[in-house]
Amino acid sequence: MDQLIVTGGRPLSGTVNVLGAKNAVLKHLVAALLAPGRHLIENVPGILDVETMCRVLGHVGASTQREDHTIHIDVPEELRPEAPIDLVRQMRASILILGALLARCGEARVALPGGDDFGARPIDLHIDGLGRMGASFELSHGILRGSAPDGLSGADVYLEFPSVGATENLLLGGVMARGTTIIGNAAREPEIEDLAAFLIKMGARITGVGTSTIEIEGVPELAPARHSAVPDRLEAGTYLVAGAITGGEITVERCVPDHLRMELRKLGEAGCEHETGENSIRLRGPKRPSPVDCATLPYPGFHTDMHPQMVALMSLASGTSVITENIYDARFRYVGELNRMGADVITEGQHIIVRGVPALSGCPVDACDIRAGAALALAGLAAEGYTTITDAHHIDRGYEGFADNLVRLGADVRRERG
Ligand code: EPU
Repeated sequence: MDQLIVTGGRPLSGTVNVLGAKNAVLKHLVAALLAPGRHLIENVPGILDVETMCRVLGHVGASTQREDHTIHIDVPEELRPEAPIDLVRQMRASILILGALLARCGEARVALPGGDDFGARPIDLHIDGLGRMGASFELSHGILRGSAPDGLSGADVYLEFPSVGATENLLLGGVMARGTTIIGNAAREPEIEDLAAFLIKMGARITGVGTSTIEIEGVPELAPARHSAVPDRLEAGTYLVAGAITGGEITVERCVPDHLRMELRKLGEAGCEHETGENSIRLRGPKRPSPVDCATLPYPGFHTDMHPQMVALMSLASGTSVITENIYDARFRYVGELNRMGADVITEGQHIIVRGVPALSGCPVDACDIRAGAALALAGLAAEGYTTITDAHHIDRGYEGFADNLVRLGADVRRERG
């Protein structure tokens, strides 16, 4: 297993370009299954999760070819309606294949998903919504079997929680259903808007994306399309915190500043100065961050996938911060690792109390998931001495060239085979 060795103490400076959003591209790959023919997705990051999703598509019968940052997807007329357990367990996004296969084949066999360990992460909202659209489900031996032999039909579905994945599964199920589907209390994430943009290019009829009520008028068939993925706000946000935590000055290019409004507000409260251009953000970090309280919420609230990075920044603040995690039950495994570096962080239920310390010191830590790994690397950039981050493959699931990008910004980061 690879490890990253980060030697701290250098303020970062320079420019970094971000690529398309992991959490959009994974969904485009699945959406392509809805129309036979050749699709093209651009601005695709070279990350492990995209490779895993390409393998899921391969199992279903589609083929993918990568060239730099583009992927061609060839979708045949006939698909095999099942996703294999070993791939689905690696990546939660594979559950989206459920809506697409039910829409295309009238059946689906999908293993219950795995992914990052943040607590229970059930899929009841996906199942309930697709059930209202006429699908029936049976679970045995860890495999969920969905069936809609007469196809899906439009329904009025009101989500108990604005789940990203459930909203996407219902979108995928609804675009070729008979009649109209309304998703109430829908998630409003930019990646969902981007999925809808791709589906609309394929011929889908969708209105209301980006609001809490999405209306989908089913069409009998869709056609292949070409689409460029929305920039990754989490990749952008992670590099901004790298600038902030080192007291550096960096510019993130090819991003959408508007998608990071709440995160920028909180970085501002921490003492960062920033300017936004049309597709760029320039940020100057403070000498020492001020403490900031924040709570994670569905978009446009503060993103849960920016919480570990924010805690890393607050661990060096000149006071106590309280970060409240409202999306996941148990996204705290990285806290022990950060404390090993000298941070003073405790959890109380969903609250993380971060008492800022004057300095962190490098030591061996484990990247337990994508954002935890990134956050520990950011802490390492500001720590005294060097930090060894094991299980660095977690970082590769979500960031292309993470170490190289940090090196280009002036950091001392090496990758080694562990
Ligand atoms: N939930 C349920 N029942 C459901 C679905 C969700 O209880 O049927 C709960 C989950 O257990 C969780 C909360 O609702 O506590 C949010 O889940 P959501 O469905 O919104 O998230 P997701 O679709 O599983 C996506 C991203 C995550 C990101 C979340 C929240 C992808 C592939 N993953 O997950 O990204 O944290 O939305 O914004 O899009 C990451 O990129 O590192 C990552 C974990």
